[in-house]
Amino acid sequence: MSFVVAIDGPAGTGKGTVTKIISQRMNLLNIDTGAMYRSVTLECIRKNISPKDEEKIKEVLENINIELKYIDGEQRIFLNGEDVSKAIRTPEVDNLVAVFAALKIVRDKLTPIQRKIGEKNDVIMEGRDIGTVVFPNADVKIYLDCSLEERARRRYNQNLKKGINESYEEVLDSIKKRHKLETEREIAPFIKADDAITVDSTSMTIEEVADKIEKIIRGKKND
Ligand code: DC
Repeated sequence: MSFVVAIDGPAGTGKGTVTKIISQRMNLLNIDTGAMYRSVTLECIRKNISPKDEEKIKEVLENINIELKYIDGEQRIFLNGEDVSKAIRTPEVDNLVAVFAALKIVRDKLTPIQRKIGEKNDVIMEGRDIGTVVFPNADVKIYLDCSLEERARRRYNQNLKKGINESYEEVLDSIKKRHKLETEREIAPFIKADDAITVDSTSMTIEEVADKIEKIIRGKKND
């Protein structure tokens, strides 16, 4: 039986970085499920497909190949053979991904892929519905929280480093809109699992958050 750590939390909590640190420290496979939803979104944007055009989206999903690979210790995501790790992190994808991620056909495609990976490997899987839908029986469930303003500030600073020109207000607005769509959708809404342990990262450094979560995981492993 594999060991599954589920990390759910909104955008900008530092989830991705923390997950990466812990995966290296504890030798767990790091799976970024948001990157999968982003890849589907990117493919639809490139093909000019509207989120309302389910027929065309179905076609895309039938032919799509999404792979996570590890190159020099870095997780990269490949969409139909192309490394799209950078291309999936643009404001354009940010603004549309929650709309595509709300669609049943999209979730029905990606959820089984995520389950299959977690059934075969010891994983730390991050997303919005890992502890509620993908792995309701995960060995450890963390709900990583953070204030909205701090999340927007972090995302804004990340963007600056990447050369993405978006004002703080635009980032805040985009995060707010996305959060509304993620929490209010019908399928797999983003909610805290009853048995998840909340870690609030608002006034913690990434290292402190990683240490705290690692301690929780080690505690559960030794149970
Ligand atoms: O973690 P992220 O910001 O890269 O996620 C991108 C989008 O994908 C986000 O709007 C919510 C969606 N998502 C989801 O619905 N379910 C997941 N398990 C992971 C992400």
